[in-house]
Amino acid sequence: MRARIAGTGSCLPKLRVTNDDLGRVMDTSDEWIRSRTGIGARHLAVEETTTSMSVSAARKAMEEAGIQPEELELIIGATVSADHVVPPLSCEVQRELGAVHAAAYDLCAACSGFVFALNTAQAYIRSGMYRKILIIGAETLSKLMDWQDRSTCVLFGDGAGAAVVCADADGGVLAGVQGSDGAKGMVLACAGRPVNHPFASHAADLQYVQMNGQEVYKFAVRTVPMCIDQALLKAGIQPEQVKLFLLHQANLRIIEAVAKRLKQPMEKFPVCLEECGNVSAASVPILLDRVNRDGMLKRGDCIVLAGFGAGLTWGAVVLTW
Ligand code: UT7
Repeated sequence: MRARIAGTGSCLPKLRVTNDDLGRVMDTSDEWIRSRTGIGARHLAVEETTTSMSVSAARKAMEEAGIQPEELELIIGATVSADHVVPPLSCEVQRELGAVHAAAYDLCAACSGFVFALNTAQAYIRSGMYRKILIIGAETLSKLMDWQDRSTCVLFGDGAGAAVVCADADGGVLAGVQGSDGAKGMVLACAGRPVNHPFASHAADLQYVQMNGQEVYKFAVRTVPMCIDQALLKAGIQPEQVKLFLLHQANLRIIEAVAKRLKQPMEKFPVCLEECGNVSAASVPILLDRVNRDGMLKRGDCIVLAGFGAGLTWGAVVLTW
C-alpha cells in the first residue's frame, strides 16, 4: 500500500496586503520586493486563526476525498505558529472537525513541514498502522514577524493547506527523502518564550524571526535540486517524466535556479508566491490545492513536492496522482 492524496484544500485570510500597501507603512517598495522575490501580495490574518484556516482547508480536502471526520485515524499538523503552545494545532482541528477516532499531533519542520508530514503519512500507511490520514500545513507567520524589520516581514504571509492521504494499492507516494542540518540552524531562527520566573537574573525580550537571507538562498539552491535528484533516483523516475514540480514558495529566483539545475522548463514549476508570499509549511499544500483545483492534474500524473527552510530542513516526495 502507498499513501495517495485523495483530496486537497486550502484557505487564505481575507485581508490581502500588496507590496504597495506595505510601502505606505514602512520603507520598502513594490520594485524591491518583486524584483528580489517575485512576491506581489500576501494575506494576513485578522479574524482568522491557524486553527480556523486549517479547519476550512481540511473540510475542503475531506469533501473532495469523500471522507467523513469519524473515518480519520490520524491528523498531523505541520506548523511553527499554532494558536497555542498546547494543545497542538492538530488536536484543535480534531475537536472542530469532530474527528473523534483520530490520534493527532504536530510536527515542526518549518517550511519543510508538509513534505515531512507526507513522508510520515507514507511510513504509517506502508507499515499498515493507519489507512486514512489528514495532513495540514498551516501558519500565522505574521505573529512571528518583527514588523520593524523590513528585510523579513515583507516576505511572509498567513494561510493553510491540507490533504487527505489514503492507503491505495496503485499510485501514491513512490519515494521520499528528507534531511536536516542543525549546525546551520541559526541562519533562520525565531526564539521561543524567554525564561521569566522570579529566580532568573535576566528577563529576555520576546524575539521574532531573524534570517540571513543570502545564506538561506545559497542553502536552498544547493540543497533543493540535490534532494529532488535523490528522490527521483529512489523512485526510478526521470525528471522528464515529471509533470509538475511543486516547490516551497520562498523566492521566484530560487525556483528558477532549481529549474535550471534540473534542466526542466519553468512551465513545470507553478507558483503562488506572487499572491501568497512565503507561507512556510502552508506553501506547498496551498500550491498543490491550486494546481489540483485548476484541473492541472490527471490520475497517474507524476509530480514532485519539495520543501526547505528553518532547521535547516529539506525534503522531497515523488508521487503519482
Ligand atoms: O522559507 C524560508 C526561506 N527563506 C528564503 O528562502 C530566503 C532566501 N533569501 C532571499 O530570498 C533573499 O536573500 C532576500 C529576498 C531575503 C534578500 O535579497 P538580497 O538580494 O539578498 O538582498 P539583501 O539582503 O542583500 O539586501 C540588499 C539591500 C540592503 O540595503 P543596503 O545595505 O545594500 O543599502 C537592505 O537594507 O536591500 C535592503 N532591504 C530592503 N529595501 C527595501 C532589505 N529589505 C528591504 C525591503 N525593502 N523590504
